[in-house]
Amino acid sequence: MITLKSPREIEMMGESGRLLASVHEALRAFIKPGITSWDIEVFVRDMIEKNGGIAAQIGYEGYKYATCCSINDEICHGFPRKQVLKNGDLIKVDMCIDLKGAMSDSCWAYVVGESTPEIDKLMAVTKHALYLGIEQAQVGNRIGDIGHAIQTYVEGEGFSVVRDFIGHGIGPTIHEGPPVPHYGQPGKGTRLKEGMVITIEPMVNTGTWKMKMEDNGWTAVTADGGLSCQYEHTIAITSDGPKILTLQDE
Ligand code: MF3
Ligand code: CO
Repeated sequence: MITLKSPREIEMMGESGRLLASVHEALRAFIKPGITSWDIEVFVRDMIEKNGGIAAQIGYEGYKYATCCSINDEICHGFPRKQVLKNGDLIKVDMCIDLKGAMSDSCWAYVVGESTPEIDKLMAVTKHALYLGIEQAQVGNRIGDIGHAIQTYVEGEGFSVVRDFIGHGIGPTIHEGPPVPHYGQPGKGTRLKEGMVITIEPMVNTGTWKMKMEDNGWTAVTADGGLSCQYEHTIAITSDGPKILTLQDE
């Protein structure tokens, strides 16, 4: 199902998204060597609740945490845990916020302590891929235009695009239609309409796009142990172009 949102609903999702963006902004200073991803979980949960929001991932299809904290070769759905983060770790923090019934979803990548040229390039390519995808999120374009822009750029940079997890429409619940793959063919797939709200959330790997599932049934890791990165925004399709609802001050 795809629900079209009114300008008022988009405004409310934007409020939810601004809160989510402010959590990510706060994480920039919070994430450093020596803390654990469990510390991130507690920090995020507190900040959401203090601001009147609900950490919407908790209880979603049996998931237990406010955040997914996926480290290094973990592609997505890593559990926050008491593992100490060390210099040079790449951590992706993904969360959803329900603020007064309005949902938003955004994942951001952070390097713990000092970076390396490989991590810098992976992060830059993944973030640029997200923005290339967003540029295609125009009324009248098709879903395949988004995936095509992302895939051709990422593969041209020598990296790969994860196939097993994709973006999605977002409404009163976290996931609805349309599916938004980060690969595909231009001019193919659902046509974008004013009032759709979708996520674009490319996961980009240094090696193969193939994944293995951990025994916990949630956490996907790269099949070859290579690094994986992700950035995600919630975006409204409007007659004035794509509107990023989870935009941070950079
Ligand atoms: N935020 C994730 C996404 O981008 C949702 C994760 S599902 C959950 O789609 F169960 F972990 F919450
Ligand atoms: Co999402």
